[in-house]
Parts: sequence; structure tokens; C-alpha cells
Amino acid sequence: MERSAASGVTESEYLFEMPPQDLRAAQRKFKQLGYPIWTENKAKLIERYLYFFVQITHGGIYIDAFAGSQEPDNPHMWAAKLVLESKPRWLRRFYLFELNQAKVRALQRLRDNQPARKPKEPQRIIRIYPGDFNKNIGRVLARNPIKPKEPTFCLLDQRTFECDWASVELIANHKTSGNKIELFYFFPNSWLDRSVSGLKDKAATLKRWWGADWQALLSRRGLQRAKYATERFKTELGYEYAYPFPIFERQSGGKQMYFMIHASDHKDATLLMYRAYAKAVGAQAGIEQMEFSAASK
Ligand SMILES: C[S@@+](CC[C@H](N)C(=O)[O-])C[C@H]1O[C@@H](n2cnc3c(N)ncnc32)[C@H](O)[C@@H]1O
Repeated sequence: MERSAASGVTESEYLFEMPPQDLRAAQRKFKQLGYPIWTENKAKLIERYLYFFVQITHGGIYIDAFAGSQEPDNPHMWAAKLVLESKPRWLRRFYLFELNQAKVRALQRLRDNQPARKPKEPQRIIRIYPGDFNKNIGRVLARNPIKPKEPTFCLLDQRTFECDWASVELIANHKTSGNKIELFYFFPNSWLDRSVSGLKDKAATLKRWWGADWQALLSRRGLQRAKYATERFKTELGYEYAYPFPIFERQSGGKQMYFMIHASDHKDATLLMYRAYAKAVGAQAGIEQMEFSAASK
């Protein structure tokens, strides 16, 4: 009986093969799904995952640290929009952070254009925090502490170096009991070296972004680096499960652009992200057989 890559759940428990531990094999497997997730449907992946998330939690909190749209002309690629509009509308609270003023206004329009609540839908709170996420997150969590039993998902979709490691730590350590806040962390594997070489204040930026151990990260390459980065979410931040989901260059596969590292304490989380990955690209084979149920939690 084979163990899954990250979750510790057995495959046979789910009649479904989990992403393998070996990232090279995982890459092949993701490509075999028909289309790998490419950057255009990353938002769809996030929306699909949260769809599964609310099937289990029937509620929850969504934190989006860099919530403005990367592609304002392509609203179908905007994670915050897809998550807000996803049905059933069971997520209860949204904390959306954004630095750019025009994008803050777009977020406010998005919030204001949400349809009225329907009978049986929970009351929603959507808060938008203009300014630097790294400066605001501590205050926001201090004023709105998340209870141990409140399931919470946090998207850290930076461009490259925008998310301070101190902010990641703060979120990971916010809950003192219960499952930690789940993280979906953007790790810019393919352009990291190029971006580093363009830095004027290299040591200071990398220390802020990754912490004191940035040289150890840069000394690794390719998949080893992604694996090393992912391990940190378990060994240092204390997550039970962490797994890197590759995002490819284009629909036909191409180069692997970056990873989204998914860190969670929930035993089904990796499996659900894998399922969302397959769904977001429209893969059907095998996925429908998967048996997971709220009862297995
Ligand atoms: C890669 S984009 C996010 C893409 C988005 N998740 C989507 O689905 O399209 C990064 C966003 O973070 C914003 N940003 C950059 N630095 C920031 C900071 N320090 N605090 C908050 N937002 C920031 C940018 O203006 C940009 O809108």
C-alpha cells in the first residue's frame, strides 16, 4: 500500500493515485492529466480547490495577500474574483490586501457588485486593505483573531519577492490550536536566479523575502530547490503536509514556470488540491472514481 507524497493518506483509501513524492515523476503525472495547469488557469485551480474546501468546511475564511488582478483585461484569470463568485457561497469572510490603488478600486467594485445574499446563504464580510500586505497583516489578524476551529485558506500569490518571510511565519503561527491557516504560496522557481541577478540590494531583499537561509536556497537548482523550499513549510513552520504543485508555461506544457506550494494540516488537503488541479484543466480520467467524503475527515 503506497503512501501519498505529502498527506500520509494511503492511495487505496481513495481509489486514487496521489501525486508522487519524486517531483520528476510528479511533473510527468501532472502533464498526463491532459493539460498541465498553466498560468492562465491558476485562478481556476484556486477556485476549484476552495469549492472542495467548502464542501468539507461549510464555511471558512479566505485571505488573499496580493489580491489585485495580474491581468486586468482577463477577469477569468483573477483568483479573488473567481473565489468570490464561486458557488455555493459558503465562505464567510474575505480579507483582501492590495498595494496598487487602481487595483484596490477594482477590488472595491468587485465587492460592491456581488449579488445580494440568498436565503440560507451565510452572511459575508468582505474587507479590503489598501497598502502593503506585510505591514498590514499583523494588525488585521490582531484585530480579527481567527478561532481554532475556523478553517482558513491564505493565498500568497506574489510576483517574485513581495511576500516577506516574516508575514508567512505570522500567518502560520497565528492559530495557537486547531489546524493552522492553510497556505498556497507562490514560489518563482524558473526565474528566481534571473530576478536575483537584477537585485540592487540582493542580501537585504533576499533576507526579507526568504530569511537568513537564502544562500542555502540559492545553492540548489531546479526541482531540488522547489523540494527544499517545500520542506521548510513542514520542518520550520510545522505544517503536517506540504506539496509543490507545478504551473507550466502554456497549455501544451512547455517549461515549468513556478510552483504553488500548498501547506496544510488537514489530511485530505493535498488530495483535494490534486483533484482541483485535474478539474481545473478538465481532466476526467480517474478523477471521478475518487472517493472522498466529509465522513473521512
Ligand atoms: C502576481 S499579482 C497577484 C495576482 C492575483 N492573485 C490574480 O489572481 O490575478 C501581485 C499583486 O500584488 C500587488 N502587490 C505587490 N506588492 C504588494 C504588497 N507589498 N502588498 C500588497 N499587494 C502588493 C500587485 O499590485 C499585484 O496586484
